[in-house]
Amino acid sequence: MFEFLKKVDNHFVGIDFGTSSIKVVELSFENQKTKLENYGVVDLNWSGQGDQPKGANVSSYEQKLNSALKNLIAKMKLKRGSRAYVSIPGFSGLITIIELPEMQQDELARAIQFEAHKYIPSSLDEVAMSWEIIEHLEADKVSQQNLEKNNSKRIRVLLVAAPKKDIEHYDRLVSGMNMEVRAIELETFSIARCLVGEDVGNFFIIDIGSRAANMILVEKGVVTVNRNIDAGGNEITTAIVDSMAVSRQRAESFKKGDKDLINSRESALVIPVLELIASESKRILNACREKNKNLRIDGIFISGGTSKMKGLEEYLTSSLGMPVTVGDPWKRILVDENAKPLVSQLGASFSVAIGLALRGIEEYKRK
Ligand SMILES: Nc1ncnc2c1ncn2[C@@H]1O[C@H](COP(=O)(O)OP(=O)(O)OP(=O)(O)O)[C@@H](O)[C@H]1O
Ligand SMILES: [Mg+2]
Repeated sequence: MFEFLKKVDNHFVGIDFGTSSIKVVELSFENQKTKLENYGVVDLNWSGQGDQPKGANVSSYEQKLNSALKNLIAKMKLKRGSRAYVSIPGFSGLITIIELPEMQQDELARAIQFEAHKYIPSSLDEVAMSWEIIEHLEADKVSQQNLEKNNSKRIRVLLVAAPKKDIEHYDRLVSGMNMEVRAIELETFSIARCLVGEDVGNFFIIDIGSRAANMILVEKGVVTVNRNIDAGGNEITTAIVDSMAVSRQRAESFKKGDKDLINSRESALVIPVLELIASESKRILNACREKNKNLRIDGIFISGGTSKMKGLEEYLTSSLGMPVTVGDPWKRILVDENAKPLVSQLGASFSVAIGLALRGIEEYKRK
């Protein structure tokens, strides 16, 4: 009789608040299989001009997010009390690795606070921080500089921080929809979980959305390098507007069209953001190889809505000198035949939402 109140405890919802759209996915886990139950997208369409919420009035931005999410949840008919996992944009947070001498837990907590000050300009009271020891370094891996300073054993610690106000903001927003917020994480982790998961090896991911590009190195399942730059699909549209002298709307549809605007000999456009993304990726990879001569990259994936752009794989493959492919966030998920065409159209723009819901499934499996 009270069936409608019962939560379906093997269902998990991932909510990605992207700059251009909110993406929501519901996954379930049954008989050792992860299945797509429901999904939805709502465009935020900032005045249709590619505006960023950066400059938008804060309360109108809140209201817009609120009503967009509410409509989407109603359309998807998500149940009250659904278990939600929510992302924070990569550019809002910090992920870094610090090397420290091995020490007791309480000492370590103090040392990390001290180190964190170097990376976080604001007061530490304003950020939520978490850390995890990811490696106990063998003597031969300890950098020469540190060996000279101190001969003791060392550890590598993954430090993660995000502004409390952002966490509270998304928590309020989603709890206000009568959902149970299970966790809020930086989208970088969602992307890594979705595209790499437990795959063995080292992978480099470039997620290109509308406002930002998020570059992520995942070494043996752990995010070890993360860098966000303000370069995304909006700037690509701007480059098309400038070089083809067309309206934004036409430029947007050219960008999404079948013609390769990046590599074609006769009509290739100069797209500065792509050059920036390629050179930044190269710089990161070279810096990592310099630090660790044995580092072998097993794959480079692109994701995010912009990864659908024709010719991007080819362009990055030639700039980075290694095969670059579009990551498939749906590869571990069972999808109904009738949903397949839409799902393949949404493609890699769902990496964050899927990665979030997969966190719910991972936690469920561990229980
Ligand atoms: N087929 C396509 N070809 C090229 N670009 C595309 C295509 N489809 C979508 N895009 C672009 O992808 C971008 C949206 O991607 P995505 O949904 O990943 O961004 P977002 O998550 O909203 O933004 P961000 O991550 O920067 O906050 C837009 O700039 C859009 O124009
Ligand atoms: Mg995004």
